[in-house]
Amino acid sequence: MKPLLVPLQDTAQISGPLASALDAEMADIDLRRFPDGETYLRFDTLPEGRDVILLAGLCHPDAKLPTLVFAAQTARALGAASVGLVAPYLPYMRQDRVFRPGEAVTSVQFAKLVSSCVDWLVTIDPHLHRWHALSDIYDIPARAAHAAPAMAAWISREVDHPLLIGPDAESEQWVSEIASLAGAEHIVLTKTRHGDRDVDISPPDLGKWRHHTPVIVDDTISTASTMMAVTRQLAEQGLRPPTCCAAHGVFADGAFEALLQAGAARIVTSNTISHPSNGIDVSGILASAANGLIEEIRPSSR
Ligand code: R5P
Repeated sequence: MKPLLVPLQDTAQISGPLASALDAEMADIDLRRFPDGETYLRFDTLPEGRDVILLAGLCHPDAKLPTLVFAAQTARALGAASVGLVAPYLPYMRQDRVFRPGEAVTSVQFAKLVSSCVDWLVTIDPHLHRWHALSDIYDIPARAAHAAPAMAAWISREVDHPLLIGPDAESEQWVSEIASLAGAEHIVLTKTRHGDRDVDISPPDLGKWRHHTPVIVDDTISTASTMMAVTRQLAEQGLRPPTCCAAHGVFADGAFEALLQAGAARIVTSNTISHPSNGIDVSGILASAANGLIEEIRPSSR
């Protein structure tokens, strides 16, 4: 029987392509709020005996977490053979240690909660910094798939003579892989973050790249402070207005408009988070990771 894909909140931009890529049946569910704000959830397509794949858009997660927990518990109660989670964007990865005494290490706590609800997890390019792998904090099989092949294909198709630019040392991992897949050159800059919206970029002499099209590549655009700081430095050195390319377009209030205002020629993101800038489809990448995990857990889930 085909797996059953259950689309939860904020997934309309990717649920159709993902269902096709998975060759899954899209579940009909009734998901709404009672007048007091509590969640009502009903599976119109019954999951008994099926491999259930919950698809959750978890950017701004706090309002959505109960729905995910209720959906997982209900699928199990209705006899699902397995319950997995595709979270194209995985939240709560940044608070990865105690920075000040008394703080909650929410990356660990969120991971424990999700691990208690579902059998496996697939996501795209989570923010792995002090945690090196999802298995450091998730107790279930968890796979971090990479948007790099889809981003490289987009850049090869859309950008003439690209120079890929990583804004900071952390971005080296993405930008070098994408550059190699796209057959493009790349450089990595140095970033100092003084606050959420206060970022300094120290570029080397970029004069030799004036005839290239700069493509700034990062995992996430949040406040866009990083992309804006790079964009300004490129302009100061006489480079062309850049294309800004990220796996996840979080775009905190006004960030998209501010980045255009700062001089970005184009902004493109993948469809992990719904946004008008979505131009890169990662559903195939998510589907192959999810299919791999369903196979991996099959003997223990039956
Ligand atoms: C940083 O560690 C990440 O890779 C991104 O550079 C960062 O999340 C971008 O954030 P913002 O858009 O707020 O500068």
